[in-house]
Amino acid sequence: MLVLGIESSCDETGVALYEMGSDGTGTLLGHALHSQIAMHREYGGVVPELASRDHIRRTVPLLRQALADCGRTLEQVDAIAYTQGPGLAGALLVGAAFAEGLATALGKPTVPLHHLEGHLLSPLLSASPPRFPFVALLVSGGHTQIMRVSGVGQYELLGETLDDAAGEAFDKTAKLLGLGYPGGPALARLAEGGKPGAVVFPRPMLHSGDLDFSFSGLKTAVLTYVRGKELDEQARADVCRGIQDAIVDVLVTKALAAVKKTGMQQLVVAGGVGANRELRRRLNAKAVKARIQVYYPELEFCTDNGAMIALAGALRLAAGAQAKAAGPIAIRPRW
Ligand code: KG4
Ligand code: ZN
Repeated sequence: MLVLGIESSCDETGVALYEMGSDGTGTLLGHALHSQIAMHREYGGVVPELASRDHIRRTVPLLRQALADCGRTLEQVDAIAYTQGPGLAGALLVGAAFAEGLATALGKPTVPLHHLEGHLLSPLLSASPPRFPFVALLVSGGHTQIMRVSGVGQYELLGETLDDAAGEAFDKTAKLLGLGYPGGPALARLAEGGKPGAVVFPRPMLHSGDLDFSFSGLKTAVLTYVRGKELDEQARADVCRGIQDAIVDVLVTKALAAVKKTGMQQLVVAGGVGANRELRRRLNAKAVKARIQVYYPELEFCTDNGAMIALAGALRLAAGAQAKAAGPIAIRPRW
């Protein structure tokens, strides 16, 4: 079974082909990605209208590239999976309309998917993937959630952010420091040169006893700290280090609490913030002590991509999910 996956929920256009064998083993055959980051940078954030128009321009060339990479033809595709939501309405519409239109022309069914399901399953693309069940820490620009994942389609929400997502906290504080867009990776880079403990920001809800998060207060704390100060290079790095440590501390503490609470031995970290090196360092160190395994997607599959959508579609179908008849388009921007 050959599944074509299409991702267009925000500022990355991703197209991929995933083949699922009859024995349940799958292979990512080809994938192509275009990031719009450079285009949005001068505006300091994603401009939805520009994002939609760029998805329109990129989808067909990326599809051609993904097919050429693995020597397959469109006629060999059995189903088309795509991100139905959540995300920017116009951007989602491009992927959904493209997928439903192409599926109609080919006489093949579609599999509309939740974007986070793609992130959640993305570590299964690795050479040594986790096995169900596992606890997942989903940390992206729009979401921060802890889930119990018992199998494909069996997800239980254990905790989530009450306000800003972890990626949003990185991005917004980075913006306050004038680090440009997207701020997360830039802030993380500067933080590498910062002194641990030189600047300490609050760790909201660290001891709340539940698995929820709150990151919106961090912006105010950073704003209050930097206001009126002339920061030299080292001082800026120290602030970045303080921000990163506050976010990472809460994420690590809650993720390990979830593992303990559920009695599981495997933790999966997915979503853009999962690329953060300090988060990985700290989790790996704690995991050895707690005798648990931590799994991450390959770095290229941490942020948005088509491979995770093709994979999620193939896994859903392999698990017996019904594909949808091609045609009607229903996106879910706030899903
Ligand atoms: O999963 P993703 O690509 O898109 C969403 O679905 O939101 O995540 C993007 C988020 C952004 O907030 C970005 O700043 C953050 O992931 N991010 C990072 C790093 N790389 C990406 N945050 C901290 N450290 C990083 N190395
Ligand atoms: Zn994402």
